[in-house]
Amino acid sequence: MKAFEYGINISRLRKNLEELASFGGNKEGGISRLAFGAEDMKARAWLREKMEAAGLYSRIDEAGNVFGRLGNEGPAVWAGSHLDTVPNGGMFDGALGVLAALECLQTICERQLPFRWPLEVVAFSDEEGTYKSFFGSKAITGLLTTEELACARNMNGQALAHVLSAVGMDIQRINRARIDHGQIRAYLELHIEQGPLLESKLISIGLVRSIVGIVSYQMAFLGTPNHAGTTPLELRRDAFLGAAEFSLKVYDWVRSTTSGVVNIGKVDLYPGAFNIVPGRARLALEFRSPSSEGLEVMEKKILSLGNEISRKKGLKFSASKVSWDSAVRLDDTIIQLLQEEAETLGYDYRIMNSGAGHDAQIMARATRAGMIFIPSIGGKSHSPEEACSWDAVERGATLLLHGLLRLAREKKQSK
Ligand code: GLV
Ligand code: MN
Ligand code: MN
Repeated sequence: MKAFEYGINISRLRKNLEELASFGGNKEGGISRLAFGAEDMKARAWLREKMEAAGLYSRIDEAGNVFGRLGNEGPAVWAGSHLDTVPNGGMFDGALGVLAALECLQTICERQLPFRWPLEVVAFSDEEGTYKSFFGSKAITGLLTTEELACARNMNGQALAHVLSAVGMDIQRINRARIDHGQIRAYLELHIEQGPLLESKLISIGLVRSIVGIVSYQMAFLGTPNHAGTTPLELRRDAFLGAAEFSLKVYDWVRSTTSGVVNIGKVDLYPGAFNIVPGRARLALEFRSPSSEGLEVMEKKILSLGNEISRKKGLKFSASKVSWDSAVRLDDTIIQLLQEEAETLGYDYRIMNSGAGHDAQIMARATRAGMIFIPSIGGKSHSPEEACSWDAVERGATLLLHGLLRLAREKKQSK
């Protein structure tokens, strides 16, 4: 590693990441800090205190996004990610991007490093989609429709409107979080890779070119609940068997025919007893593709398999779209800038695509957006085993600092 002009304080960043991990942390090492839950709300308050202590001006908007600003009014350079986690997730997904951005701004403030444009840390609400994927970044960019807000629910059927009012927020005011896109000069996000590529190739840094498109659906197979002892097997209309055949066929088709992936992450059977033939099977299904055309092809085939299999088995099939987020290409000039900074720092890097979703894919619709990845140990994420080395964290945060300073020192008046 070459010597460089300035760096971040890795011990402070580590301490902050470990402290944040205690919000929602369990004894086994997993973290459940679900959006708008008590631990998530505590974490937001904790972050605001850290921001103020770091010399930033902190605020929270109508969508619960937390900001910390360095500098005056006017168009700013943003960096951040999310504080919420998936159920029993890890300590780096999202948290790294937020706390590394805070560390960068604190470093700039302490060392009085000069900049032209204000800098802003942002922690977006509900990136993981407990209620609505990318809720906070979509609210900021004005991409949430009234209908989407009204339909947003968690896996237990609890409405977003209900949980927001329980934490003192108001669903009617979410659109006030929208920010004029001209106020955001650029957006950078540091994240763990969440996959095995960088580690397996012994590469320190990933610079993201494009982010996968993601579609999610709630699906149901409807049959007839009946006595599990007396109903002959050939006379049953078993909803579970429809769901099971569908799942296997979908996986086979996606694997053999597409460059995408599919996941059925939750299955519920009703009424749900040893001795009742399932009358209803409910599936939470998502599929991903690097291209928009790919998403369309997958949607068509998956829905037609659902209809075909249910017809064959005498069942009914229903599918309701929960979200559709297209694949996005990040900004080439930002990739170039980060590439130059990585070279100056002596970091080896690879330009790569992301199979995970990120707030950057929403921010890319409003401004120049870029992402930095660091290796995930064992490629694990969305799991308590998610980990990365502190050296990797230091490299990622240092590159973030250098990227932010380049952007905050730009001469151009407009984006
Ligand atoms: C975000 O973590 C995703 O689901 O890719
Ligand atoms: Mn995640
Ligand atoms: Mn994330």
